[in-house]
Amino acid sequence: MRFKVTIQNPDGSPLAGLDAAPGRTILEMALGADVDYPHGCRSGNCGACKSHLLSGEIEMSPYSEFALNPEEKARGLILACRAVPWSDCEVQPVDAEDAAIHASRRLTCRIAEITQATHDIRILRLDTLSGGPFDFTAGQYAQITFEGFPPRDFSLANVPGEDQLEFHIRHVPGGVVTGYVMDKSAPGDEVLVAGPIGTAHYRQGHKGPIIAVAGGSGLAPIKAIVEAALKDGAGQDIHLYFGVRDEGDIYLEDRLEDLAAKHPNFSFTILLSEPSGKTARRTGFLSQAIADDFSDLDGFKAYLAGPPVMVESCAAALTAKGLNRRDCHADAFYTEAEKYEEEIR
Ligand SMILES: Cc1cc2nc3c(=O)[nH]c(=O)nc-3n(C[C@H](O)[C@H](O)[C@H](O)COP(=O)(O)OP(=O)(O)OC[C@H]3O[C@@H](n4cnc5c(N)ncnc54)[C@H](O)[C@@H]3O)c2cc1C
Ligand code: FES
Repeated sequence: MRFKVTIQNPDGSPLAGLDAAPGRTILEMALGADVDYPHGCRSGNCGACKSHLLSGEIEMSPYSEFALNPEEKARGLILACRAVPWSDCEVQPVDAEDAAIHASRRLTCRIAEITQATHDIRILRLDTLSGGPFDFTAGQYAQITFEGFPPRDFSLANVPGEDQLEFHIRHVPGGVVTGYVMDKSAPGDEVLVAGPIGTAHYRQGHKGPIIAVAGGSGLAPIKAIVEAALKDGAGQDIHLYFGVRDEGDIYLEDRLEDLAAKHPNFSFTILLSEPSGKTARRTGFLSQAIADDFSDLDGFKAYLAGPPVMVESCAAALTAKGLNRRDCHADAFYTEAEKYEEEIR
């Protein structure tokens, strides 16, 4: 039996009416019909596709509680990327008012420069050859395809409007694409960039304090968000926490120092979780540092990016200190295999 799925705009007007295909999720159907539905991971991990189920019945496949917590589920919220309709349905994306709407682009780019940031992170700068202009909001990500490899998600590290696109790519042990980037990619190579994607982006309208938390190459979108806010003239306090394992994993410290020297409202803390020797730096986990440093985060906006475990633990620490869940915007750096594991859990 075929069902009808109606997608509503925030003001209640109809955005699209779709004929449900058996077994397909609402997000798959919407994107298949070229409806600009908010989404990120497509695997129930990020919460970007969170939607109100206004009427009808759906079945949800497994998802992370970070993306949709029990209280939200009880209020009738669903994840469109996990929801398969079982009757005619009406849905309304939650984040629609808050979504960064940019044209979806497929760019052909050329690697202009590769810099060794750490032993396992490379910074790539790309020139756009065709397919632009590429508009995005700081904090969003793109899918990069290196020739002969499947696409992979990487966050934009530059502030929107700059000539070159910047990405920070960490080598995942055993990783096919990131291994290629480490060993074989070179300036002059052409790559495809598709995007922008994601809703863990900078919210310009928020005037309260900002806490920005990065683990490893999670500094890419967090740096973009912080720099976009400072470029905007944001006057509120901005605290950046950058967590890495050891001294050799720190990068762009000079740049952060430079920003702190120029902007009295910006401060940053670097944390080593597994220092190999004696260190004068602060040590420990980001989640503990946040819990120690703040007593009440009500009214703050938080942006997080990096390894999934770090993102989950920091999001929990932030909300335990009073951060409103709707003020927590996070991109957990799942690999494709981890997304798959989440799907079959
Ligand atoms: C929204 C988002 C933004 C991101 N932004 C960034 C960023 O800015 N910078 C960054 O460095 N990373 C980022 N990531 C993470 C990045 O996408 C992954 O690290 C990348 O996809 C890894 O690709 P790969 O081909 O090297 O690894 P893969 O080849 O996909 O392998 C990943 C891991 O899975 C293992 N594996 C492979 N196949 C299987 C299998 N079948 N079963 C079990 N294990 C398997 C591999 O051994 C390896 O350990 C982001 C991720 C997301 C979701
Ligand atoms: S797109 Fe649905 S949870 Fe990420």
